[in-house]
Order: sequence, then structure tokens, then C-alpha cells
Amino acid sequence: MSVTAVTGSASGIGAAVCEKLRAAGHTVIGIDRHQAEVNADLSSPEGRANAAEQVIKLANGKLDGLVCCAGLGVTAPSSSLVVSVNYFGSTELIELLQPALAKGEQPAITVIGSVAASQQVADPHPIIELMLNNDEPAARALADELGQPQIAYSASKYALTVHCRRLAVKTGSTGVRINLVAPGAIETPLHEASKQDPRFGEAVRNFVAPIGRNGQPSEIADAVSFLQSAQASFVHGSIIYVDGGMDAMMRSGKF
Ligand code: NAI
Repeated sequence: MSVTAVTGSASGIGAAVCEKLRAAGHTVIGIDRHQAEVNADLSSPEGRANAAEQVIKLANGKLDGLVCCAGLGVTAPSSSLVVSVNYFGSTELIELLQPALAKGEQPAITVIGSVAASQQVADPHPIIELMLNNDEPAARALADELGQPQIAYSASKYALTVHCRRLAVKTGSTGVRINLVAPGAIETPLHEASKQDPRFGEAVRNFVAPIGRNGQPSEIADAVSFLQSAQASFVHGSIIYVDGGMDAMMRSGKF
């Protein structure tokens, strides 16, 4: 039976992923700040090391899957926290769990990006290079200096996408597949908080996908469940947009 760790398991997309994977027969190890099999704070190197240590222990050193859902939106307490959780909370955990994954059965990683990453494609912000250079203190400092959580958010997801695609090339021969799901607007507590925010609420409410509605967490979990299954055995380094057509709307002529 496949043993899969899922970050952000206590809410929204992560909770839906846990439910779907359990139904598909996986043994799930949830990781979150609270209400999880592994309670850990992914915003710091110490918290990530603690999370990895507990997961490896619970999985007896051999992990078959990892799904990175934990993340913060534009209403986070600070932009530096967005950088630390969204980018380093996934990239460092992946690195720490790679040896256990390399021992797994048909191992696979799925990372939750965002359609918001596309906003950085035309003119990538310099903070992205700091993240890709693994310089967490400098990226955090610049994020807080900018004080624009929407830039920290889209940049963190852009950097995360680039990092994972590079990793797919670098570590493909280990047999650990890695892919991303890029959601559009999904009805979760994170999205609800953005809709209510006095700075961003109106823009978020007016940003409607061509399909005419927001998505449900289970619709993201379906894509994750596919990527974590044997049916996706040749899918590697890919981004699946599950966004009701938002990406197509924003850049139909580019992909
Ligand atoms: P959510 O707020 O419902 O769930 C996020 C989970 O991450 C929570 O359980 C939270 O406790 C956990 N988390 C946050 N900081 C953490 C930390 N320091 N350590 C451990 N766990 C932590 O949000 P949602 O919407 O389910 O988001 C999941 C992922 O999907 C995020 O990465 C988000 O950026 C991404 N996403 C969400 C979209 C949406 O419209 N809801 C759109 C695009 C991407």
C-alpha cells in the first residue's frame, strides 16, 4: 500500500487531497500546523526538519508519495511568511524527503502551484532569483521591504514552479516523478479570506474563470490523485492547470 505525505492537510485543497488519496487506498500522513498526523510549522528550517523527521519515522524510512499543498495567500500576516511557507516550505521538505522517496514504490511528488504564477511570466520579479538561489533570508527581507503580498504570492508560486521543473530534469533518473497542479480560484478558507480583504477583495471577486464559476477542492484533488497514480507513470515535470480556463483566458497565445 502506498504511503503518501500531504502538507496543508488540515484545510481546503490539502484536506480534499487526503480524503481522495485515502479513498484510493493510500496511507496518508498529514502535515499541518495543527490537527494532523505530523504537527509542524513549515515556515522555518527547524519546523521543516522536524516535519521530515516525523514523516520518515512514521513511514519507516520509505515514502511512496508527497503532495505539497500548504500555503498562504495574500491575507497572510506578512509577505516574508508567504515566501517561507509557499516556496521554502515545499522545496526544502522535498529535499529532506527525497532519500525516503527514492526508496518508495513508483514514487511521485505533486506540488500545488497557482495560475497566479503566470502573472510573473512576462516580467519576472528579482525576488524570484533570490528564492531560486535558496537565499531565504534575502528573499524574506525583500518581500517585507516591498510590502506587496500579491507580488510575494505570485513570485513564490512562479519560483516554486521553476524549481520543480528543474528538479524534474535533475532527478528524473532517481525514478521520483514530480509534477505541479496549478489551481485557479478554488472555494477554500484561503480564497474566502482573499474575497473579503479590503485591498484585494473586489479584484478577486471579479476575476471569474471562463467556465463561469470557482472550483471545489475535490476538483484539484482529482488531478492530484491522477498524478500520484500509476496511470500517470510517464507524466513528469508537467503543470496541469485546473482553473476553469483562467490560464487560457490570460495567455491564449502563449503556453
Ligand atoms: P487553506 O488555507 O484552506 O489551506 C492551507 C493549509 O496550509 C492550512 O491547513 C494551513 O494550516 C496550512 N499551512 C499554512 N501555513 C503553514 C505552515 N507554516 N506550516 C504548516 N502548514 C501550514 O488554503 P487552500 O486554498 O486549500 O490552499 C492550498 C494550496 O493551494 C496553497 O498552496 C495555495 O496557495 C494554493 N492555491 C489555492 C487557490 C485557491 O483559490 N484556494 C488558488 C491557487 C493556489
